[in-house]
Amino acid sequence: MKRKLLSVLLTGALAASMFVGCGTSTETTDTSAAGGDTAAETTTAEGGDSTAAAGGTKVGVAMPTKDLQRWNQDGANMQKELEAAGYEVDLQYASNDVQTQVSQVENMINSGCNVLVVAAIEGSSLGEAMDMAAEKNIPVIAYDRLIMNSDAVSYYATFDNYKVGQVQGQYIIDQLDLDNTDKTFTMEVTAGDPGDNNAGFFYDGAMDLLKPYIEKGTIEVKSGQTEFADVATAQWATETAQSRMENILSTYYADGTNLDICLCSNDSTALGVENALAANYKGDYPIVTGQDCDIENTKNMIAGKQSMSVFKDTRTLASQVVKMVGQILKGETVDVNDEKTYDNGKGVVPSYLCEPVFADKDNYKELLIDSGYYTEDQLK
Ligand code: BGC
Repeated sequence: MKRKLLSVLLTGALAASMFVGCGTSTETTDTSAAGGDTAAETTTAEGGDSTAAAGGTKVGVAMPTKDLQRWNQDGANMQKELEAAGYEVDLQYASNDVQTQVSQVENMINSGCNVLVVAAIEGSSLGEAMDMAAEKNIPVIAYDRLIMNSDAVSYYATFDNYKVGQVQGQYIIDQLDLDNTDKTFTMEVTAGDPGDNNAGFFYDGAMDLLKPYIEKGTIEVKSGQTEFADVATAQWATETAQSRMENILSTYYADGTNLDICLCSNDSTALGVENALAANYKGDYPIVTGQDCDIENTKNMIAGKQSMSVFKDTRTLASQVVKMVGQILKGETVDVNDEKTYDNGKGVVPSYLCEPVFADKDNYKELLIDSGYYTEDQLK
């Protein structure tokens, strides 16, 4: 409720800044504290929202890194869609460096962005930048990853992260028919970055389904590493996942013991595990899960080195966020479909959750090629 009120108030400020225009960065920086808010109040009454074209409105888009394929797609889709809707776009990547991202977001605020869309590198490191945004009445949409411990986050748009984990866990249960077996299957778990709020959701979604089988003895984790803190991968780095799995393979599986399941939360960690398997493992090839349908991983699915992935169509997320930006600016009710799951420590952030989709070698063509996500050549 508080946020809805805030969004109504913000709309006035934003409509005003659209009337005033963006100006140059320096002008905006210099005058915002003194003049900006007053100007906002005087023009709010005129509303202007229905007439306010997107032109002159600047949206800051902060992305974590270019190193991972998906964020390049997210950024490109956001830029394309926002520009098509007539907005000016300030798109920045931060090389997975928290301080760089903080500075980028602060610059966006100081250079007159009217709305911020932020995919956080570390969910809890943006507090001060968020306070600055709040002071200037700039609405913030957390993109894919929730920004933690701040009440300046207006909305959150993501995929259903818990469901991503469930899709991975259920796949393992179905493939090995775990409800109808006397066998014991070995499993190792590789999860995501502890600084990314999503990582816990992926892990919980899968492990809530798989833990009962571990307790029954149908699944055995030879390394004994099952807690999130033990299996997490800082910054989702392929190399970190690879060296951890190389250690596990040489310690627990070098004697010829088969490893049956590698539960990996996403494709970058799955790639590390696949590299480790290629280098250090001689047994029957395990089930390997992933998420994102990155090109390398899709190629590995086709080649039988990864069993499945979870497709999160970044075009869908970008369209949803662009729609939300428009709704915020026009003072319309913003589309959300979840108002209970994502508490960032200061309260539940109203969220829009897109649907993740199961992908494997049997449906990738339809999902990824027929839909125009990739060309056939990209997957060769
Ligand atoms: C995203 C995943 C991605 C991971 C690593 C998560 O926040 O939801 O799609 O694989 O970050 O970048």
